[in-house]
Amino acid sequence: MSGGNPTQPFLRACRCLPSEVTPVWFMRQAGRYMPEYRAIRARHTLLEICRQPELAAEVTLQPVRALGVDAAILFADILLPLIPMGIRLHFAEGEGPVIENPLRTAEDISALRDDIAPHDSLADVMEAVRIVRGELGARAPLIGFAGAPFTLASYMIEGGSSRNYLKTKCLMYHEPDAWHALMGKLARVVADYLAAQVAAGAQAVQLFDSWAGALSPADYAACVLPHSQRVLHDARLADVPVIHFATGASSYLPLLKEAGGSAIGVDWRAPLGWAWRQLGEDIAVQGNLDPVALTAPRAVLEQQVHRILREAAGRPGHIFNLGHGILPETPVDNVKAVADMVHEFSMRLTR
Ligand code: CP3
Repeated sequence: MSGGNPTQPFLRACRCLPSEVTPVWFMRQAGRYMPEYRAIRARHTLLEICRQPELAAEVTLQPVRALGVDAAILFADILLPLIPMGIRLHFAEGEGPVIENPLRTAEDISALRDDIAPHDSLADVMEAVRIVRGELGARAPLIGFAGAPFTLASYMIEGGSSRNYLKTKCLMYHEPDAWHALMGKLARVVADYLAAQVAAGAQAVQLFDSWAGALSPADYAACVLPHSQRVLHDARLADVPVIHFATGASSYLPLLKEAGGSAIGVDWRAPLGWAWRQLGEDIAVQGNLDPVALTAPRAVLEQQVHRILREAAGRPGHIFNLGHGILPETPVDNVKAVADMVHEFSMRLTR
């Protein structure tokens, strides 16, 4: 990441620069817990929203208006770049993503395209980025994102969400050449896709390795890290902050740091202060409220926000967020209350 001296608290925190308030945004801040989103979703499928730039832009902006968060995250889905690779998919109501042609053999993997030319094949996403940037102006920076190779591979192989990643790990253990061929293709696709979002105007990007916590540290290091590293060290991302997020991976935070990123996302299973010590103070951290805590009474929420801010101890480089995405059952008022609390409490911290 190159220098620069940004003024917005989110971009400052990504660079470990001090600011008056701790910036806050929420993973999955646009979604079904918001009535404005449900109103649009009642008339369009998830993929339709992603493919109509005006709609995707509108949904991206909804939480910025409603919550007063310090960053917008583009409305899209991690699975979109799989479509130009040759994967057919849909989102089933209440079930999540369904891959219609899951990968079964080494031949399936060789047949995947990895030269997806995202400016063309995902032109709608890039157009949404441009619209959002125009609408946001200086109000808040826009975060682009992609799924990390392992998390994407698990959907492609399992055919959807999974409990124990049996098929994914079988490929990894039984057919290492096919595994690395797949991960190599995904690394190229993801790096190109993120670079295209940055070229279109995204001011930071997040790499979601949502399911990396299913792996032992040794398997992560040998079978996943080199591919995530290729994405995270792509020269075309050098000018923007890159947030590297994984859930359930607190036992190997230094490996996530080694893979790369200017900030590391920490889930709620580890105390934030401990996690930051594991990582070292030269890197920003993002997290780490339990998303379910957003359903708690206000007094409990206040305690939790205080605790996390105390653990961060006012050190520059903390981005307040959840440890994973907002659940559909979450009351909007509580999310707004947490954003306000983070701003208010962090202003009172001595730095
Ligand atoms: O506000 C934002 O965070 C931006 C939008 C966003 C979506 N998906 C839209 C979406 C983001 C950042 C994602 C990322 C994503 N998608 C991840 C990584 C983040 C994480 O939660 O770990 C993953 C694993 C996916 C794959 C995916 N998409 C699943 C498992 C599901 C079903 C789960 C569910 O909540 O229903 C989706 C669907 C999806 N993507 C929804 C949204 C708002 C909900 C579906 C809907 O509106 O019908």
